[in-house]
Amino acid sequence: MPITLENISKNFENKSVIKDLSYTFPEKGVVAVTGMSGVGKTTLIRIILGLDRADSGKITGNNAKFSVVFQENRLVPTLTAIENILFTTDEPKSKDNIIKATELLKAVGLKGEENTLPKELSGGMARRVAIARALCVDGILVLDEPFKEIDEQNRMKIIPLIKTRSEKDLVILVTHNENDITDLDAMELKL
Ligand SMILES: Nc1ncnc2c1ncn2[C@@H]1O[C@H](COP(=O)(O)OP(=O)(O)O)[C@@H](O)[C@H]1O
Ligand SMILES: [Mg+2]
Repeated sequence: MPITLENISKNFENKSVIKDLSYTFPEKGVVAVTGMSGVGKTTLIRIILGLDRADSGKITGNNAKFSVVFQENRLVPTLTAIENILFTTDEPKSKDNIIKATELLKAVGLKGEENTLPKELSGGMARRVAIARALCVDGILVLDEPFKEIDEQNRMKIIPLIKTRSEKDLVILVTHNENDITDLDAMELKL
């Protein structure tokens, strides 16, 4: 069932953040959520994920499995890069998952960093661990400004991974970068 927003509104105190938004997401492909800083992109993501409630309106189809890169990395500080990825899988000790996590680390340019702790990673490296972790599990992929702190060379490694994912699952991508929209053939949801 597609995710559908019907007349969604959200206020914080007296401030209107989302106003009467209606949108039907496709079942797969990339939807780029764009708009100026503070416009309500993260708030919309939180409403879709069920972490926040709209004040009015209706949302359907979001009773689904999601895999998320939040605006912050949210890595577990006491776990290594590979342990952080395996932590959110159904079976962290399964050989298949360990192979998959190792391959994903390599794909995001972090080969050899399996046993590195988050505090020993640069901002961009930690961000890539968060992306690899989200890619390691199934579901609708939600990415809130995933490429912040990531250089162009690494962004180009990650784009095809997201593109492949979007061939079977919906990807919701919050971005400020026009190139993300073209590279991923994304539809745009402008806030
Ligand atoms: N929990 C909250 N309480 C009060 N105001 C909030 C809260 N969360 C977000 N806001 C406000 O709502 C607006 C939209 O925030 P956000 O969704 O984070 O914007 P974006 O992700 O587009 O930059 C901002 O003005 C922000 O300050
Ligand atoms: Mg935001």
